[in-house]
Formats: sequence, C-alpha cells, structure tokens
Amino acid sequence: MVKRANAHRLLGIKIAVGTQLAKHGSFKVIIAPASAPPLSLPKCIICCFLALVFAELTTFTPSLHKKTNTLKYSDMATQLLAGKRGVIFGALDDQSIAWAVAEVCASMGAKFTLTNAPVALRFGQLDALGEKLGATIIPCDATSIEELENLFQQSEEILGGKIDFVLHAIGMSLNVRKKKHYTDSNHEWMKKTFDISAMSFHKMCQVLYKGDHMAEWGSIVGLTYIAAQRIFPDYGEMAESKALLESFARSFGYHFGEKKKVRVNTISQSPTMTTAGKGIKGFQEFFGYGDDMSPLGNAPAIDCANYCATLFSDLTRYVTMQNLYHDGGFSNMGMNPKLLEG
Ligand SMILES: NC(=O)c1ccc[n+]([C@@H]2O[C@H](COP(=O)([O-])OP(=O)(O)OC[C@H]3O[C@@H](n4cnc5c(N)ncnc54)[C@H](O)[C@@H]3O)[C@@H](O)[C@H]2O)c1
Repeated sequence: MVKRANAHRLLGIKIAVGTQLAKHGSFKVIIAPASAPPLSLPKCIICCFLALVFAELTTFTPSLHKKTNTLKYSDMATQLLAGKRGVIFGALDDQSIAWAVAEVCASMGAKFTLTNAPVALRFGQLDALGEKLGATIIPCDATSIEELENLFQQSEEILGGKIDFVLHAIGMSLNVRKKKHYTDSNHEWMKKTFDISAMSFHKMCQVLYKGDHMAEWGSIVGLTYIAAQRIFPDYGEMAESKALLESFARSFGYHFGEKKKVRVNTISQSPTMTTAGKGIKGFQEFFGYGDDMSPLGNAPAIDCANYCATLFSDLTRYVTMQNLYHDGGFSNMGMNPKLLEG
C-alpha cells in the first residue's frame, strides 16, 4: 500500500514522496500532476534540491523482488570492493552461484577475470557475462597446475597488480553424474571427483602461494555444502569432496595467514537451483526439505554472492579458517514443525 507522506507543490507538478511501507520496507518516489498553484522560484529550487536528495538516499535502500524474494544486483550497489582485483572460477550460466558473485562484485566496483574449464567455455554462456561486465575470460582446467599458473600470471598482468580475492566455485562428481550408487562407487571416477572438486582448491592455493600472487589482506573463498558434516545419501562422494575442501581451506588459511595475512574460508551454502545442484538425484525434494527446515528458507544465489562480497571486502579482515554457514538457519535446526504439518 502506498501512503502519501509529504507533498510539495512545484511549477504545477506535485512531488509526492510516497513511502511504501509494505512487506520489506522499501521506498518509492512518486511524481504526480497537481492542480495547485506554482511556488516562487527560490522555493521551487529548494524543493527540487530536497526531492533529489531524498530520491538519492532512497536508492541506497535494499528492496526485495516481491515474486522471487531475492535481491537485485543493483539494490546492494555500494563501492565496497572499489579498487579490488579478483579471479572468479565457476560461472557456467546465469544460474551459477559464481555468475551472481561476478555481477555483485562488478556492481561493487571490483575488477576481475573470469575462468572456467575449456570444455565449459564451449557450451556455457561465459562470453556473454565477460562482455557485459568487461571482464577478460581465461580458460583454465583447475586440476592443471600449468593452467593455474598461466591464469594467475595473466590475471595479474590484465588487472594491473596482485590479486585481492579469489572465488573457487567448482564441483563435479563422476559417480553421481553417472548414477553409480555410493556403495558401488567406481574409485577411478572417485579420484577424479576429488581432484576436480577438492584438490583443485589445494592446487589453486598452492599456485597462488608459491607465485606470491595474492595481495596482503586478500581473501580466498570456496563454496561447500553441509553434506561434509551430515549424511545426505544422494550427495554421494561429493560429501567427502566437500569435507576435504573445507579441511584444505583451514590448513591453507594457517599458511596464508602467517605468510601474508591472506584469509581463507569456505561458505556452506543452501541447496541452490544450478546445473551442479540439479545433477543430484531427488534435488527438488532436497531443495524443498531445506527450504521448509530453515526458518529463513533456503538462501538464494544472489544472497550467497552478497555474502562472498563481504568476505572479499575489508570489513571481514580477521575472519579466516572458517566454514561459514549461509543456509537460512538450516545447520542449527533439529526439527521444524512445518515439516510435520504437511
Ligand atoms: N547448487 C547447490 O545446491 C550448491 C550448494 C552448496 C554448494 N554448492 C557449490 O557451489 C559451487 C558452484 O556450483 P553451482 O551450484 O553454482 O553449479 P555450476 O554447475 O553452475 O558450477 C560448477 C562449476 O564448476 C566448473 N568446473 C567443473 N570442472 C571444472 C574444472 N576441471 N576446472 C574448472 N572448473 C570446473 C563447471 O564448469 C561449473 O562452472 C560448487 O562448488 C558447488 O558444489 C552448490
């Protein structure tokens, strides 16, 4: 509901500042024709100035999309990451969490390169994102040390200095993809899964560390899932991949902290509708269960991206070696009566 709060009469135009106090406390400025007589010129100028200041202030207020209950990139636009240089792994299409991270980082003033496996570049949509955000795309299979070395060296050159933040958003399970039951896993495939989903994080950190590519007080973030701690049977060998990933982040967090005050963390994200997510058997039910169990509901990709941005920023300089839950409260729930009601 829109309530009229203030109305200024100005050159035959009435500027009504309507305050939309509906659901999420967002604001709107409404300009409506008026029948009232005009004001004197000095008063007009003052009214115009005040209206513009008010309009400017209101654009900083985050608002929520009514339909999707998610934030828009522009809603959180501050220059929190101005001057920061980054490398973002894992944007495949506009559903990818890394895609949202790239959009948010760009809107917050960061410069970065985008990367993905060469095969993913062929069928994904990364070109479009690179073009839109003015980011260079550098192909890199994250299991290859040589390709990682090339990626970070090129990124430093393109961005004009050492790297302030890196997002690792990589996951793929061969046994899950080929629908092999956990109790009948192919161990060669399992090794490949660990290499892609977890060892790639260690390799990435090692190349950054040995090549001294990170700036002081930089930030490295990997994305993980709570199946590292609890059993979700259909998540298969990805559970062990995530446990390994989280452990690598803690261990490298120590070494990077000692060497250069660089922090290393993982974000444990809610189920999210992405290519990797939907590859898991029964994902829809999985998603619904998480949504019902969490008092805030599942955290959307855009909110995960905002959380990543805070970890890349200087506001979180002493947060390191942590596995941080971003899951609407899911990880601390025992039972939600909502689940019993249905
Ligand atoms: N979707 C979810 O429900 C969910 C929940 C928690 C955590 N995560 C994690 O978030 C991260 C991002 O996944 P997403 O859900 O956005 O899905 P996604 O499919 O969009 O992203 C996975 C990415 O990994 C890339 N990748 C695979 N093999 C690679 C390799 N060898 N080298 C470089 N890149 C490679 C893919 O090309 C893809 O871009 C993953 O680590 C995933 O496990 C996802």
